Amino acid sequence: SNGSGNTLRVASPTSNVATELADIDWDNLGFGFIATDYMYIMKCSQGENFSKGELQRFGNIELSPSSAILNYGQGLFEGLKAYRKHDGNILLFRPEENGLRLQMGAERMCMPSPTVEQFVETVKVTVLANERWIPPPGKGSLYIRPLLMGSGAVLGLAPAPEYTFLIYVLPVGNYFKEGLAPINLIVETEMHRATPGGTGGVKAIGNYAAVLKAQSAAKAKGFSDVLYLDSVHKRYLEEVSSCNVFLVKGNVISTPAIKGTILPGITRKSIIDVALSQGFQVEERSVTVDELLDADEVFCTGTAVVVSPVGSITYQGKRVSYGVDGVSQQLYSALTSLQMGLTEDKMDWIVEL
Ligand code: COI
Repeated sequence: SNGSGNTLRVASPTSNVATELADIDWDNLGFGFIATDYMYIMKCSQGENFSKGELQRFGNIELSPSSAILNYGQGLFEGLKAYRKHDGNILLFRPEENGLRLQMGAERMCMPSPTVEQFVETVKVTVLANERWIPPPGKGSLYIRPLLMGSGAVLGLAPAPEYTFLIYVLPVGNYFKEGLAPINLIVETEMHRATPGGTGGVKAIGNYAAVLKAQSAAKAKGFSDVLYLDSVHKRYLEEVSSCNVFLVKGNVISTPAIKGTILPGITRKSIIDVALSQGFQVEERSVTVDELLDADEVFCTGTAVVVSPVGSITYQGKRVSYGVDGVSQQLYSALTSLQMGLTEDKMDWIVEL
């Protein structure tokens, strides 16, 4: 090695052949698009099951202009991460949970879905094929983005005749431009992310288009992101555009309960278990926007954002600031140490490749 990070050679656990890391600036990863080497594609017809897919070179895909995904938004996505451990092994965090959530979402969106076993297996295959894109330990992670879509052509509104399951991956660092520094949120009072009976509880592609307007307005005013309220009472917290939200008050950690309008985050669920194991009391319930006023700490959780401390929240023109060095930092450390293989995996959450 010439000592440059880009020529660091890492042992491949599958082939025992040293692979060279991709030639990118590993010290300045953000959360943006980077083209990698391979993507996985598997197709099936309506009424059939996914059975055989293949790795292809990463690149554009062909879709009918009349495909259900383009015309009617029949699609879901997932998000999970792979970390490179110091010993060279690659770690996935609870991938079967993403497979299960994709199945639940597929049921809601009238789509067939891969089995959990197929999901985990194809994620592994795609990660290994793109191994040189997994950041060195401590520099970030490989973000894995599975998509499930109605790729067949329709015109009348109906489920597509053909479906595509696709996985692409890319190296990422911190999600927010603030890095690990506290983010500043604004509570949105006019627009809503989801409605009861809608698709807010699954990872439907359209849920994320629906928040762009409020998010853009918030960013234009200097906020990091938007915190949404329930659409019925306009009083209970739901989630942030790209993550779940938690409040801390003394030894009690509260987060909005899953009731169909909130995305059941895998990081959310994991943080609840980590907090319980550390002796916190955790409440999944309706949390009012007024409770923001006297919370000690607020933080967000998500695969992309991990655990992000919230420095302030602005609601109806009033800004409330929070302490940020306590609970969220403690939970962030506990979770990421586990994900990076630095602490013992007592929960059996890690899948090692
Ligand atoms: C994730 O955290 O993985 C997500 O899917 C959120 C997305 C907006 C980046």
